[in-house]
Amino acid sequence: MTQTATEPQHQTFPPPADLAAGAVATADLYEEAATDRLAFWGRQANELLTWDTAPTQVLDWSDAPFAKWFADGKLNAAANCVDRHVAAGNGNRVAFHWVGEPGDTVTVTYADLHAQVQRAANALSDLGVRTGDRVAIYLPMIPEAVVAMLACARLGAPHSVVFSGFSAQALRDRVDDAQAVAVITADGGYRRGEPAPLKPAVDAALETKDGVESTVKAVLVVQRTKGEVAWTQGRDHWWHEALAAAAPTHEPVSVEAEHPLFVLYTSGSTGKPKGILHTTGGYLTQAAYTHRNVFDLHPETDVYWCGADIGWVTGHTYIVYGPLLNGATSVMYEGTPNTPTQDRWWQIVETYGVTKLYTAPTTIRTFMKWGEELVSGHDLSSLKVLGSVGEPINPEAWTWYRRVIGGDRTPVVDTWWQTETGGIMISALPGVTTLKPGSAQVPLPGISVEVVDDEGRVLPAGHEGAGYLVLTEPWPGMLRGIWGDDERYRDTYWSRFRDQGWYFAGDGARRDADGDVWLLGRVDDVMNVSGHRISTTEVESALVSHSSVAEAAVVGASDPTTGQGIVAFVILRESAHGADPASIGQELRNHVAREISPIAKPRQVFVVSELPKTRSGKIMRRLLRDVAEDRQVGDVTTLADSSVMASIQAGMSAGKSSDG
Ligand code: PRX
Repeated sequence: MTQTATEPQHQTFPPPADLAAGAVATADLYEEAATDRLAFWGRQANELLTWDTAPTQVLDWSDAPFAKWFADGKLNAAANCVDRHVAAGNGNRVAFHWVGEPGDTVTVTYADLHAQVQRAANALSDLGVRTGDRVAIYLPMIPEAVVAMLACARLGAPHSVVFSGFSAQALRDRVDDAQAVAVITADGGYRRGEPAPLKPAVDAALETKDGVESTVKAVLVVQRTKGEVAWTQGRDHWWHEALAAAAPTHEPVSVEAEHPLFVLYTSGSTGKPKGILHTTGGYLTQAAYTHRNVFDLHPETDVYWCGADIGWVTGHTYIVYGPLLNGATSVMYEGTPNTPTQDRWWQIVETYGVTKLYTAPTTIRTFMKWGEELVSGHDLSSLKVLGSVGEPINPEAWTWYRRVIGGDRTPVVDTWWQTETGGIMISALPGVTTLKPGSAQVPLPGISVEVVDDEGRVLPAGHEGAGYLVLTEPWPGMLRGIWGDDERYRDTYWSRFRDQGWYFAGDGARRDADGDVWLLGRVDDVMNVSGHRISTTEVESALVSHSSVAEAAVVGASDPTTGQGIVAFVILRESAHGADPASIGQELRNHVAREISPIAKPRQVFVVSELPKTRSGKIMRRLLRDVAEDRQVGDVTTLADSSVMASIQAGMSAGKSSDG
């Protein structure tokens, strides 16, 4: 393919002069970190956080891959996010301009947060939650979600936030795995213009299953939609009543730097989600450092908005911990971008004078589809930096974001990281880096990455072929393990390049001639749908749990809006033969939505009579991906039966498919 200099991936954008002149991060950060990486992180930890006992150690890697950062330091996360700002005289600063989907708003100052977090910590403690206990949080995007997380942190009780779009079963699995003692939820929340109940899922999740009682002793329920709720006496408590009855002041529990702050479940390449464990001192250091430098945060004047949900790591690090550690003023929005109209986001940006906006490529592509006119009616001149996260951003979406949302003026930072990394790892710095649309570009100061081949040989800048992204040095925000499964932690991340001691990220990448990193998507059986990580096995297990399905294979096929779409191939049981493929397809899609979440609903379900397998019985997803993406099917010589693909394709062209 020939490319001309005007194609988006060949344009470059130097930092705007005014932004560069007042930028928080300057080029000497790279130099400082390169000179003495550990001293650099030690300085960040001491300057960005307030310690009860200042750490004297930086990294202890003697028990690799189990890291200890700032191990002899002590601190409290909630006190760092809230109390110290109030003590510094910033209690009246707005922490959140919260916008409810129906149009109600709440202004939450740092003093308000301080008052609520203390009461909530006391309420949890009154319900028997102790330092070290796990608390599940299953809440919509309401201010209480932030208060709940910080109240747990104040007690040193690790939270496990479960995305409120997940099913009762998914909630139960996570509660069981972490052995949570309490759940914080709401009667419901608003989405797409309707109240969506949440409490019934909690009730279902906590039922005795196969004779096994859940570990949960108490459920705190925020009243949001005021709908009818079933009530279990002795277990359920209204949040507002519990907080009103609780003592107003609470002394934060000073914990060691390596005390667990939270567990957050994410999909791996097996059906069982992994509880990613993050601890306190290192995670907070990286959260504060990356949020401040990547978004060029000026807390006195900025209005920052991250459009993620609290149920994902982006919500943890860039709605809660990063912004609050830095004393930022944020916007938090409850609902969907098209409720009641498709310009809801731009109304919010205009109303609050948002200066920094952070969202996912899939959202940007959705806005592109809705059209520029929706944007042009709004004054977005307050915007200064735009961020992207969750999947590779195609150069077209990148340039649209900068031109239409950023008024042909703002830098766009494409930030690569993972639930496991805790914070941003690869990104441009808006006052320093000349931007290249489509590339995440350079590791942040203090972070070390390489792109390597199968044998772990470093691929030099400009190398044509794709390689694997590895992280070659430990970093403060790194996961400390998988909850309850050290072996899986070692296997998943540290075995592929064991000899070198590198962390294997699971992403393909290449480095261009300038050394900039281009991410190429996952290299394992993990799909990325609208920036959400979903494992193929998880969806396959949900499909085969349906009484009509004998076997299932799932692949991620490229999708112009969502990045990847889930395409399922199913073999029906004898009893379901003769069923109408369209209605069975629809039923299976709904089944997956119920079993896992609507986000895991297959885009298409194809009923087939066989699946392509190797002689050892492994499903060849590569071939199914070819079919799903409407490509010439690749090499079939390793199939046990090479005629299978022909029969699948023939079946599909005969219209035996269902999409929806
Ligand atoms: O494949 C990469 C992709 O999302 C994965 C991490 O997913 P998760 O843990 O859910 O965290 C998402 C938010 C940090 C990565 O392994 N990914 C994330 N950001 C980017 C990306 N791929 C390309 N470019 C990005 N900026």
